[in-house]
Amino acid sequence: MNVGFIGLGIMGKPMAKNLLKAGYTVYGYDVVEENVQNVAQAGAVACKSIREVCEACQDIITMLPNSPHVRSVVMDAGGILESAGQGTLLIDMSSIAPSASKELHGELAKKGIHMIDAPVSGGEPKAVDGTLAIMVGGDQADYERALPLFQVMGASYNLIGDIGSGNTCKLTNQIIVAVNIAALSEGMMLAKMAGADPEKVFEGIRGGLAGSTVMNAKAPMMLAGDFKPGFRIDLHIKDLNNALETGDRFHAPLPLTHMVQDVLKELSAQGNGSCDHSAIAKYYEALTGVSLKK
Ligand SMILES: NC(=O)c1ccc[n+]([C@@H]2O[C@H](COP(=O)([O-])OP(=O)(O)OC[C@H]3O[C@@H](n4cnc5c(N)ncnc54)[C@H](O)[C@@H]3O)[C@@H](O)[C@H]2O)c1
Repeated sequence: MNVGFIGLGIMGKPMAKNLLKAGYTVYGYDVVEENVQNVAQAGAVACKSIREVCEACQDIITMLPNSPHVRSVVMDAGGILESAGQGTLLIDMSSIAPSASKELHGELAKKGIHMIDAPVSGGEPKAVDGTLAIMVGGDQADYERALPLFQVMGASYNLIGDIGSGNTCKLTNQIIVAVNIAALSEGMMLAKMAGADPEKVFEGIRGGLAGSTVMNAKAPMMLAGDFKPGFRIDLHIKDLNNALETGDRFHAPLPLTHMVQDVLKELSAQGNGSCDHSAIAKYYEALTGVSLKK
């Protein structure tokens, strides 16, 4: 079966390769030719345009940075709206604003093209392993149509609600992760400044109520002073921008998100935008002159 894949970056490449391994014929396109060639070497059909993808595929996945990129791939001349046939299903797995998903879904529906939003959590390692968590918004029938693809790329997949709900779920995830990392950094710095070994504190609390997947993944990075991404600060700023925009739309109070966003922006302005988001610890290190490193 043919599947289109547009956006072959850090996440898209391994996801497309897992579909190839599962026996799908993948038609790949990216504005960066090198990325297309990378998946072509693994067996994908290299496409030179979105139109080429649309002509070959009834199911098309997009994995792009943010709302403007998805809007451009859908709405621009030669894009999905113009090139795809009636009955095509667009599975947008990018993390974008829920409002953008709804808007594009509405435009595509006018031409009988279906769309679901299906952002992911788990990062590159889980994209490689095919164990992503996939959060889906859209119609039940479209979700069921995409399910065999999700079963290849993910370990968990949940239909959250109508179109846009997948991205609302992802924004919720991103708020909780960012605030959690900030709290972890703040607590660890207090421990160190008060004379306790942060590594022993981590061991002391990880089995209790404060313990979390975020703590298990990020505390060791802070203790090692190793901020290799993982998930880049600049991507998290993008997600929190979308969360804040969504909060404005629904008058949802987001004081903690605002605070952490300011911290992330300051870190990015200081040249840390490509560091892992665990580098929030560096904000506290700069404030205090104390390193959390063992
Ligand atoms: N990297 C992670 O750890 C991670 C984890 C979970 C979710 N996400 C989300 O997944 C999405 C993709 O992330 P990524 O890390 O793969 O980003 P990336 O920047 O590595 O990849 C995006 C790809 O889209 C391509 N692209 C951009 N505009 C295009 C266009 N108009 N037409 C065709 N291709 C185009 C780029 O060339 C690039 O190859 C983002 O929304 C991100 O927030 C990323």
